[in-house]
Amino acid sequence: MFPTERMRRLRKSESMRDLVSETQISKQKLIMPVFVDENLKEPKKIDTMPGILRLPLGALEEYFGRLEDLGLRSVLLFGIPKSKDPAGTSAYDPEGVVQKALHICDESSRLISIADLCLCEYTDHGHCGLIQNGKVDNDSTLETYGKIATSYAEAGADMVAPSGMMDGQVAAIRSALDAANFRDTVIMAYSAKYSSYLYGPFRDAAESTPKFSDRKSYQMDFRNSREALREVELDEVEGADIVMVKPGLFYLDIVSQVRKMTKKPLAVYSVSAEYTMIKNAVDLALAQKEIINEAIYAPFRAGADMLITYFAEFYAENF
Ligand code: PBG
Ligand code: ZN
Repeated sequence: MFPTERMRRLRKSESMRDLVSETQISKQKLIMPVFVDENLKEPKKIDTMPGILRLPLGALEEYFGRLEDLGLRSVLLFGIPKSKDPAGTSAYDPEGVVQKALHICDESSRLISIADLCLCEYTDHGHCGLIQNGKVDNDSTLETYGKIATSYAEAGADMVAPSGMMDGQVAAIRSALDAANFRDTVIMAYSAKYSSYLYGPFRDAAESTPKFSDRKSYQMDFRNSREALREVELDEVEGADIVMVKPGLFYLDIVSQVRKMTKKPLAVYSVSAEYTMIKNAVDLALAQKEIINEAIYAPFRAGADMLITYFAEFYAENF
């Protein structure tokens, strides 16, 4: 109690504050999402995500080199394919956009390549699974996810990151990978992925907005938190190597609860609209770098081991 206890003693100087600081972050803990568009010749701005580009395959080698030079270690790849169909077959084309990007990453850099694994960018209807009788069908989708996983592993992916929120997807992918002898391919599972309007700018960037209905029959309801713990528990049993909470900054309560219940590495995904909101507001708030820094610390303080953020490149450039 005051006056024997004085909290300010340990805040006296920068060195003292650094000594007692509880959370450390580093570039090695940040994952940069990269949009690769097969239809482009030149990089193209994403209107809803200021500062983020869609890249043609031809620009990847240089960009990966730049990220590496900045001290980053991992990228999360998203593809925008030439063609879409009801079954999303371009997702497991050995010559598909992500497969090509993975080869480039493998051959030209030492970055950890993480391939987002979903169907929404590859299906003409924009859903994350196959449609049967007007509904997103769980079990037939699992087989396709297995094919995509194997195809990404063949192309050199260090990790696959299933984001479609089908039940049983992690187990299906693990058994497909193992059957094809890719026993060391890591699964980073989007375990607690909420149905969120914060994905708006991403869907614009990746052209993956569903053409009918929404994703509420497979992604989580944002009113729930116990359900997130159940999702994580299931993914652990199914064989996820890394579990994830997504979105990030609006969901730090979930991050901190998941941190308490899992021993597995925990990833947090600070999503596109979180990026856009902060990006658009920081200039007005007169503290661009500082606010971005604070936004990057928050998920780590809540218990994250790694953070997927569109600010990764900015952070690496500025800190
Ligand atoms: C694909 C996928 C999405 C995001 C990551 N993977 C979009 C969605 O589920 O609609 C969102 C990422 C972001 O908003 O930054 N399923
Ligand atoms: Zn999807």
